[in-house]
Amino acid sequence: MKAIIQDRYGEPADVLALKEIDKPRVKEGEVLVRVHAASINIGDCHVMRGVPYIMRPAFGLRRPRNRIPGMDIAGKVEAVGADVTQFQPGDEVFGWGKGAFAEYATVEADNLLPKPANLTFEQAAAIGVSAQTALQAVRDHGKVHPGQKVLVNGASGGVGTFAVQIAKSFGAEVTGVCSTDKVQMVTSIGADHVIDYTQEDFTHGEQRYDFILDNVGNHSFSDTRRALTAEGTLLSNGAPVGGWIGGLTHVIKALAQSLFVRQQLRPFVSMNSTEDLAALKEFVEAGKVTPVIDKMYPLSETAEAVGHVGQGHAQGKTVITV
Ligand SMILES: NC(=O)c1ccc[n+]([C@@H]2O[C@H](COP(=O)([O-])OP(=O)(O)OC[C@H]3O[C@@H](n4cnc5c(N)ncnc54)[C@H](OP(=O)(O)O)[C@@H]3O)[C@@H](O)[C@H]2O)c1
Repeated sequence: MKAIIQDRYGEPADVLALKEIDKPRVKEGEVLVRVHAASINIGDCHVMRGVPYIMRPAFGLRRPRNRIPGMDIAGKVEAVGADVTQFQPGDEVFGWGKGAFAEYATVEADNLLPKPANLTFEQAAAIGVSAQTALQAVRDHGKVHPGQKVLVNGASGGVGTFAVQIAKSFGAEVTGVCSTDKVQMVTSIGADHVIDYTQEDFTHGEQRYDFILDNVGNHSFSDTRRALTAEGTLLSNGAPVGGWIGGLTHVIKALAQSLFVRQQLRPFVSMNSTEDLAALKEFVEAGKVTPVIDKMYPLSETAEAVGHVGQGHAQGKTVITV
């Protein structure tokens, strides 16, 4: 089969190569998926570069532990492991696994669900980590409910486009922050107000928000706090990555400042969860959430696609079609 192989850390164009390798063998508890589409997360770009270095024990000290990158996946079941009863060959599925940037991938059966009937493979692959992150941020940490004012900084990206739609579906009044070119798209997915950050800094405005999901981390905590209500919550979901500990400095500051102020400043690590994937499937089947797809690239152009996402200005999700 054809697969994208990475044997060292570095920039996508330098380290990703399309190669012919053996098809993986399905093991107990696994499903062999014929990949139709895979989506790219900004996290895939960090893993590709091996930063922050503190994550190397998890990624692989000298080279990536997983030679084939890619997590978010949608495709058709080709074969199932001996004890897998919930899927059969031919079933259309989506979820997350390892080695999604390939023609075939073996995936834990528990990490897959039947593909939402109203989505294409490309749209289903776009859900993955970004939508789960958005759901956990808005529902579990923001506890967003009707009438609340929510601001999503970085509203036009992978996580942000899902967060805007999910917060709207919970009845919040949502403000999205993005660049000029993306104002129209963020409005089209339901944001009540859109702030173009090239024209206006939300931390200097009059408006106060009950919940701020910060996917960017371009303001200090004390600046962002000014835009929170007295008991509002700021969830720090993005920070500049690189060096030894990357965004962890943001996390440490959030924890330290939380001890001294009434507002909740929270760090956040999302977890993959089949229950949440099922909840998202219900959202998309009910028409409350639609994945926004920026660009689609064939498998052979994965390096270019990852490079595009890695620049940090993707619009919604970028998808590899296989
Ligand atoms: N906590 C977790 O477990 C977890 C899980 C997944 C992701 N994350 C983090 O969440 C963050 C967002 O991920 P993502 O997948 O949404 O990334 P993404 O798809 O690259 O989107 C980032 C967005 O940020 C926007 N942006 C850049 N500069 C901005 C600024 N100054 N003000 C407002 N928006 C700005 C960009 O929009 P414009 O093009 O309009 O500038 C872009 O759409 C990343 O830092 C990622 O590491 C955390």
